[in-house]
This record gives sequence, structure tokens and C-alpha cells, in this order.
Amino acid sequence: MRVPVNGLQVEFTDAGRGTPLLFVHGFPLNRTAWAPQVAAFQSRFRVIAPDLRGMGGSQATAGPVAMDRYAEDLHELLRFLEAGPAVLVGHSMGGYVALALAKAFPEALRGLVLVATKAGADAPAAASARRLAAAKIRTEGAAAVVRDMASRMLSGHPDPARAAAVQGFMSPAQPEGLIGALLGMAERADAGAWLGQITVPTLVIAGAEDAIIPPGESEALAQAIPHAQLRLIVRAGHLVAFDQAEAFNAALESWLADSGLA
Ligand code: MLT
Repeated sequence: MRVPVNGLQVEFTDAGRGTPLLFVHGFPLNRTAWAPQVAAFQSRFRVIAPDLRGMGGSQATAGPVAMDRYAEDLHELLRFLEAGPAVLVGHSMGGYVALALAKAFPEALRGLVLVATKAGADAPAAASARRLAAAKIRTEGAAAVVRDMASRMLSGHPDPARAAAVQGFMSPAQPEGLIGALLGMAERADAGAWLGQITVPTLVIAGAEDAIIPPGESEALAQAIPHAQLRLIVRAGHLVAFDQAEAFNAALESWLADSGLA
């Protein structure tokens, strides 16, 4: 489906009925990465999975896209769909956006699931690397960055078909959208000092073999958010929800039930 949100065409999946689950993908991905969750949860929940601005099939804008801007888009989409308050499941960059949304629009959420993500800002070296990657996309196109990220998304020694699937998820990457996300992430603020104010039930999920955002970041998040629960998924890399979809879905489902959100 495609609707105008904040003046842009946004593509999203909206399937099923029940408590709304808003799945927010990471970088340089799009909503197709949540296919195992859409399939598993749509019989009992309303599953909403948008492509963030400039990613997948959603329209791009020029310049850096702040995490707050993505959060405003999601808030507007929820309003348009009359789907709030929702349980927001954010993966990696989607987790940075989830924290921005939780801070700006707490009334839009009834639960928060932070997957393979962190609250800290980029160290100067990491921010510079993102600016370099953005410059590389300008001269060489999206493929260089997509290849690099795709190869690091899964645990251990993924079979070639699964690695190809991850690269396939990333293939609709739009250069302008990736540049906007990289520059936006490089500029994002540290959300750490604010985590203690989160009041909705929160689940933190980490891949034990995440080579991009190590599980220690998730442990720190879970300690800083009041009453948050932590699930470590074994044999899972950064793209936890695809790498170990069954274990991920089971962890999410039991937490939803235990938290009275099912
Ligand atoms: C992601 O998966 O969204 C990115 O790895 C996040 C990041 O680069 O910080």
C-alpha cells in the first residue's frame, strides 16, 4: 500500500487485526526484511511495516534525515491508519527511530521492542566513516555499501541462499535515501540520559553473534530502561529476526502475552 505522509509517498504493509505491531526496519533495509514476522503475526495482530523515507518503495528527500524526522513520519502514518497506540518493534537504525518516537510521542506507544540496537550517539570516527560512506554512494552508487552491510548481517557461516536473500532485501536501496540515513545517523543525539523515563513495557532482543552492534549494547539498554526484559538469541547475527526467525518470533510472542499486549 502507498499513502501520502508528511507530503511524501510512503509504502507499507498493513495486514491482520488486533493489537497493532509497528515493525521498523534498519539500514540499508526495507520492510521486506520483516517477512517472517508479517507471516507469523498477522493472524492475531495488526501488523504494520513501513518503508522508511527514502528506503524500499518510499519516496526520498535530499539531505540528512534526522531520526526525529523518521519518527514524525511513523507517527503520522499511525495517525492516518488510526492504528495507535502501537507496539513498536525497531531493528538497529529502526531502534534509534523507535527511541526518538518514544520520546516525542509517548502516547503513540503501548510497548517497545528494541532489536540489535543502542542508545548512544556515534563516536567521531564512526560519524566520519558514515560521511565517507555517503560520499562513496554519491560517486559509486548504493551497491558498494549494500554489499558491505549484507555480508555482515548474519551469524557465523550463513548458507549462500540466506546471504543472497539478505542482499535481495537490500536491492531496492535508493542512493538518496541511504545518504540521508547515513548523515542522519551521524548527527543523532545520545538518547542514554532519557532511557529512565520510558514507561511502556519494553523488550530488548539481541543476537548473540551480532558483529555490527554487539549484544553488550543491548544489555546496557535493558539495564537503563525501567523493568525492561532482555532476550539473547543464540546463533543470531545482526539481522536477528531473519537469522533466527522462529526463536525471535517465540520471544516476541511470549513477551507480548506476558505483558498483556496480545
Ligand atoms: C542498521 O542495521 O540499521 C545499522 O547497522 C545501524 C548503524 O549502522 O548504526
